[in-house]
Amino acid sequence: MIDGNTLLFGIVGDPVGHSLSPLMHNANIESLGLNYAYVPFHVKKENIQNLISGAKALNIQGLNVTIPHKIEVIKYLDEIDSLAENIGAVNTIKFTDGIAKGYNTDAIGAMTALKEKTDIKNKNVLVLGAGGASRAISYALCEEDVNSITILNRHINKAEALADDISSKTDYTVSYDLQSNSNKYLKDTDIIINTTPNGMYPHVDDKPLIYAQEMNSDMAVFDIVYTPLETGILKEAKKIGATRISGIKMFLYQGVESFKIWTGIDANSKVMEDVILKASGIDDIGEF
Ligand code: ATR
Repeated sequence: MIDGNTLLFGIVGDPVGHSLSPLMHNANIESLGLNYAYVPFHVKKENIQNLISGAKALNIQGLNVTIPHKIEVIKYLDEIDSLAENIGAVNTIKFTDGIAKGYNTDAIGAMTALKEKTDIKNKNVLVLGAGGASRAISYALCEEDVNSITILNRHINKAEALADDISSKTDYTVSYDLQSNSNKYLKDTDIIINTTPNGMYPHVDDKPLIYAQEMNSDMAVFDIVYTPLETGILKEAKKIGATRISGIKMFLYQGVESFKIWTGIDANSKVMEDVILKASGIDDIGEF
């Protein structure tokens, strides 16, 4: 029940109506009995500048930022966490005493989802794609003591630019190659992460980027796409008996992490998971 003492959180994006974050966060808030509310804000690009001062004026405690504002918003923040700065994208803002600080919990959410299912220390990781999501995940992997990171992409120049950027800012020498050369790397790969929209609704019949016969049962295969829940590459992973990780867990854990940053409180991740699965028409996440 909203009253005079309710503290406000929210998500800004354009569009924002499709977001499952309000449902997920409000289910958590309710289950913890907190006097908070989480609301969607449809903010157009031309209003991004006013967003931060407006949120401060309204005493908003925390915001998530979604497409297309994750990069643009950075220039209006007072502070930025070092991982978010390296990634160059912010999806979480915390307001404290008039200071707006940006974080990237997409990256942390992906690592939590991975680590829940597989050990990642000293592992060889193959990252498919070289866009914004690949950038966030590849930087996060550098903080996890993996053995190697290889970025594959359809256009090699994009993979090269990302690999070089990460190599210049971290202790890792990130390798890169064309997606079509994936066979060269798969024998030594422990973890495959798809960061491309391959197989994402409505392109559910896209040919998977890696087939079962190129995988092995000791691998872990993580697809950040979660519409549909079982993408082509995850179907291939199932055929060979590899460990599978769904992007819906990354979405869940980025929300858990944002809540912790804003409030210092551990979220009720079970309630959050149940409500997003129900909203996605899934009764049971099963083996994902
Ligand atoms: P995001 O921010 O979601 O990562 P992005 O920055 O547009 O989105 O990057 C998408 C990435 O997925 C790119 O690496 C893109 O490859 P190119 O750089 O060669 O265009 C890759 N990608 C997009 N659609 C793809 C598909 N159908 N198959 C394989 N790779 C794809």
